[in-house]
Amino acid sequence: MNIAIFASGSGSNARKIMEYFQSSGVGRVVLVVCNRKNAGVIGIAAEFGVPVQMIDRNLFYESERLLDVLESYRTDFIALAGFLWLIPGYLIKAYPDRIVNIHPALLPKYGGHGMYGHHVHEAVKAAGEQESGPTIHFVNEHYDEGDIIFQTSCRLSPEDTPEDIARKVLSLEHEHYPRVIEQLLLSQR
Ligand code: GAR
Repeated sequence: MNIAIFASGSGSNARKIMEYFQSSGVGRVVLVVCNRKNAGVIGIAAEFGVPVQMIDRNLFYESERLLDVLESYRTDFIALAGFLWLIPGYLIKAYPDRIVNIHPALLPKYGGHGMYGHHVHEAVKAAGEQESGPTIHFVNEHYDEGDIIFQTSCRLSPEDTPEDIARKVLSLEHEHYPRVIEQLLLSQR
């Protein structure tokens, strides 16, 4: 099955997914969709020979042209990996239960608009949480509200800084996201 990764950040999850699916017979990464022209994921995609489709708000929200692009790569499944724009309804309709996101906290806590990256880990730290971890969930038209597919957690110590928390959570993301995507692909074939 063909996977498109939507990413706009440093791309470390995208790298893990591309690496994993180089040797999985279940799926392959056919496209990266990106909305930030200096995003790290662009260079990573080039390393793996995966084409990148750049998008702007106009193309994404005011047209459905991205659907044609996704179809031209025969995309079956979309994985968001550090992609912060709300997914428009036309994409959700075209890929029902086939768009997933990874969020760096144990949803439903610490989710919603503006809750991304370091903001999440700072909030977790400020609340004195004793654990955190990534959530993988289906994407709907609201930020971080789709059904939860997978969660795992790590212990936090009172000395952990937001950066320490980010590191711990990111390492769990890398460990689990590709495998969970593979399981979903297997269940949808
Ligand atoms: C990841 O920690 C991901 O969970 C988070 O952005 C980071 C991207 O890192 N996503 C969100 O906060 C979504 N609300 P990466 O570019 O290195 O994969």
